[in-house]
Amino acid sequence: MSVFMAKFNSKLAFIGSGNMGSAIIRGFISYGGVSASSIYVFDKEKTNYDSLQKLGVIAVDTVEAAILDADFIFLCVKPQIVSSVVKDCCAADSYQRSSVFVSIAASVPISLICKCAGGDVPVIRTMPNTPMLIGEGAIAICKNDLVDNKRFANVCRLFSSIAVVSVMEESMMNPVISVSGSSPAYVYYFIKSILDEALDQGFTQEQALPLIVGTVIGAARMVENADCSIDELIRRVCSPKGTTLEAMNVLQEEHFADIIGHAMRACNKRAEEISTELQS
Ligand SMILES: NC(=O)c1ccc[n+]([C@@H]2O[C@H](COP(=O)([O-])OP(=O)(O)OC[C@H]3O[C@@H](n4cnc5c(N)ncnc54)[C@H](OP(=O)(O)O)[C@@H]3O)[C@@H](O)[C@H]2O)c1
Repeated sequence: MSVFMAKFNSKLAFIGSGNMGSAIIRGFISYGGVSASSIYVFDKEKTNYDSLQKLGVIAVDTVEAAILDADFIFLCVKPQIVSSVVKDCCAADSYQRSSVFVSIAASVPISLICKCAGGDVPVIRTMPNTPMLIGEGAIAICKNDLVDNKRFANVCRLFSSIAVVSVMEESMMNPVISVSGSSPAYVYYFIKSILDEALDQGFTQEQALPLIVGTVIGAARMVENADCSIDELIRRVCSPKGTTLEAMNVLQEEHFADIIGHAMRACNKRAEEISTELQS
């Protein structure tokens, strides 16, 4: 993903420069071909202003100044704040209805953004994940009809500099939270579970953790590059009467896959609840 990309000439406004907002800004500058001076940021909390300004980003004191002449307005605030931020943007004298809102907020439907804008406006809705902080993320993305294909392609290209991009219907944007938005936490938990057992078996963290991380990265790359199914990859590690087969038997007897499915459905249910709460 860390490939050099052609220059991106649009003006970008970021409302919110917390964890995700500042990570996306840094990624776009480092890998997306975006000039820092074309990025304007407004945040209520100025903690990240210094470091962003050192990169050449223009940090301003009002929403109005941030969105002046913006082609894209990135909404990088918590879901519960999105409505008021959209209203603030649309009430500003500098707001142009042609600006595309790009939301990274979980569970916030495009219709809510349009409602807060007082009518249909161009909106791109995304669901990123935190590995984007190191340019290795995954992001699901959709748009409404007011976003033309060229502007949508430009935003997809930008995100592709820091994440795997998957375009989908908006109806999949809540379910995808369980697939790629929240799933880094499941993977961390899996890694921690192997680590905890390794420590119990007498390994030091310095010995075990690099082996586990290397294994997870390597296994993921094997899946990415495989010329066969994932079941076949598993079968190739499981020699008859061997050690891996014993471990896999326990995972199946203990319904490992069912547990993951159960967790993902709980995640989806909460995503729907949050959407409902935001719209009530
Ligand atoms: N973290 C994740 O794993 C993850 C993954 C995918 C998507 N997301 C989405 O990313 C979005 C941002 O999350 P985050 O973790 O970056 O949050 P964050 O670190 O809290 O950053 C949000 C920033 O926006 C500021 N803010 C609050 N109200 C504002 C306003 N009215 N105008 C301008 N700025 C305002 C906040 O300031 P205060 O601190 O003063 O409120 C904070 O600095 C969320 O919608 C979340 O759903 C997060």
